[in-house]
Amino acid sequence: MSKVTVVGAGNVGATCANVLVTNQVAGEVVLIDIKEGLAEGKAMDIMQTANILGTNTRLTGVTNDYSKTAGSDVVVITSGIPRKPGMTREELIGVNAGIVKSVTDSILKYSPDATIICVSNPMDTMTYLIHKTSGLPKNRIIGMGGALDSARFKYFLSNALNANVTEVEGIVIGGHGDTTMIPLKRYAAYRGLPVSELLDAETLDKVAADTMVGGATLTKLLGTSAWYAPGAGAAQVVGAILHDQKKLIPCSALLEGEYGEKDLCIGVPCLLGRGGIEKIVEFDLNDEEKALFAKSAAAVHATNEALKDVL
Ligand code: NAI
Ligand code: 2OP
Repeated sequence: MSKVTVVGAGNVGATCANVLVTNQVAGEVVLIDIKEGLAEGKAMDIMQTANILGTNTRLTGVTNDYSKTAGSDVVVITSGIPRKPGMTREELIGVNAGIVKSVTDSILKYSPDATIICVSNPMDTMTYLIHKTSGLPKNRIIGMGGALDSARFKYFLSNALNANVTEVEGIVIGGHGDTTMIPLKRYAAYRGLPVSELLDAETLDKVAADTMVGGATLTKLLGTSAWYAPGAGAAQVVGAILHDQKKLIPCSALLEGEYGEKDLCIGVPCLLGRGGIEKIVEFDLNDEEKALFAKSAAAVHATNEALKDVL
């Protein structure tokens, strides 16, 4: 039976656990937090939906006891502080780096074979931190950001097209930041038809711009960062791995020459299966897209510099 641990029972972690249970993605899910009673309470509340929604996935909440996470196949790390209105994801690095490092150590003590999905922000830098400190092979360290950003891209595209969101294709690569992500407009499609044939350039540019500030828009509206789509995005990545779906989802992956970059984690299309990141797929980018990717990578490298104090 597959087992998933979600670290952090806050907004994103609890939502991820809820989706994992509701969609029966795993047999067993453990939700863990440092705040006394929080994970237990949320797990109990979610489990009381199980009979209503018809799911037999078992969710347990624990406070800080990592022995209960032993033998996890996949671990989702959401612990850390979220951004508040006006803050960038990058401003969270000081606090979150310490949390992500200690949580990763505790997880691997009990689940040395786990695949880790990092959600905590600044996500690309936190994913790189796990690479630098955990000793895990690169296919088993995955940053979740592109799944969310692509879902937002498809949401704004479907609104502009007045079309069903499930009939729209769109992919966002690059860093998970307001100015660093790259919605690939040229590859966006409605039922195989390029959206550039259906939307004028100005509308398509607005869709891309709305996608890029999608997180900031919600942070302003909610007073803290979003959680429904982030939690669902993380659960989608878990499902692709556990069920060996061979699904193409943009994730933050360690690059070693792909897309002309190395020694950083950044969003690229990844084929996900039981082996984690089984392949990084290199899209054919034009000169403008290549320049945007190089700029995005430079920004992620600059943020990674702040890890010097932690590494
Ligand atoms: P939240 O504040 O609701 O939850 C965070 C939880 O982490 C809290 O319950 C806290 O007690 C817990 N925590 C803190 N230190 C811990 C530790 N050492 N061990 C276990 N638990 C610990 O925050 P929210 O909204 O759930 O966001 C979580 C993180 O995810 C933030 O860093 C946020 O910026 C990031 N995020 C990333 C997204 C992405 O696409 N990569 C999207 C949305 C949020
Ligand atoms: C989001 O994109 C802040 O990363 C968070 O909603």
